[in-house]
Amino acid sequence: MESIETSGYEIRQATLEDIPELIRMQVALQKDMDSIRENLLRPGQTNVAALREYYSARIRDEQTQMLVALPTESSRAVGMGAGKIWLHADYLPPRSGELIDLWIDPEHRRKNLARRIIAHLLRFFRLNRVDFLVVSYVEGNGIGESLWKRLQFEPVLVTATADRKDVEERLRMPIRRVAPLAYHTTLAGRSRISMTPAPVV
Ligand SMILES: CC(C)(COP(=O)(O)OP(=O)(O)OC[C@H]1O[C@@H](n2cnc3c(N)ncnc32)[C@H](O)[C@@H]1OP(=O)(O)O)[C@@H](O)C(=O)NCCC(=O)NCCS
Repeated sequence: MESIETSGYEIRQATLEDIPELIRMQVALQKDMDSIRENLLRPGQTNVAALREYYSARIRDEQTQMLVALPTESSRAVGMGAGKIWLHADYLPPRSGELIDLWIDPEHRRKNLARRIIAHLLRFFRLNRVDFLVVSYVEGNGIGESLWKRLQFEPVLVTATADRKDVEERLRMPIRRVAPLAYHTTLAGRSRISMTPAPVV
């Protein structure tokens, strides 16, 4: 069995006080991924209120273990990672564990912190009888790819993105005005249906 270096840092469950650092790391993670691939579907980076809500929910959620890594005797997190249990009775297997938001600040990398966080999350999954693990990572993230491959993760599903206009061009679709689009908006807590002309493409 591979040993995991434990000195110098503490791994513990995140608390509400860690939220500012979690948000900082999430923004850094997103920026990093954006520098690898620009055509990603991404959360709005500037929406700090939404991120606060997101981490607050994660910390309170019993099906999620949200961890932070801190240098010993420091209260400032320098790494994070979460494990979420998904229950899906209509699927096989009926429960899975997703590894999410793994990030270590650059100056604290290559000290086994990611491994230690993952080891903690595996214990959480084991306790909850979750065997089927899932992780999503950006294609071209060489370090992420090497980490997950080394830990026996095998890519099984590809998510591909495209600009609709490029696909239309490839299909040689004629460019013309399309029918007005019906869409739903929620205003002041009331749902209503509006009609607006779609732009000419
Ligand atoms: C990926 C990341 C979390 C690794 O954190 P870390 O604490 O430095 O990783 P560890 O020291 O625990 O190393 C674990 C394994 O990751 C891989 N790895 C880490 N850094 C690497 C690097 N620079 N080059 C290649 N592989 C690397 C190795 O397989 C390593 O195992 P090894 O030491 O036995 O070779 C960190 O680099 C990071 O935050 N990257 C940006 C965000 C990201 O890519 N997150 C994961 C994507 S889902």
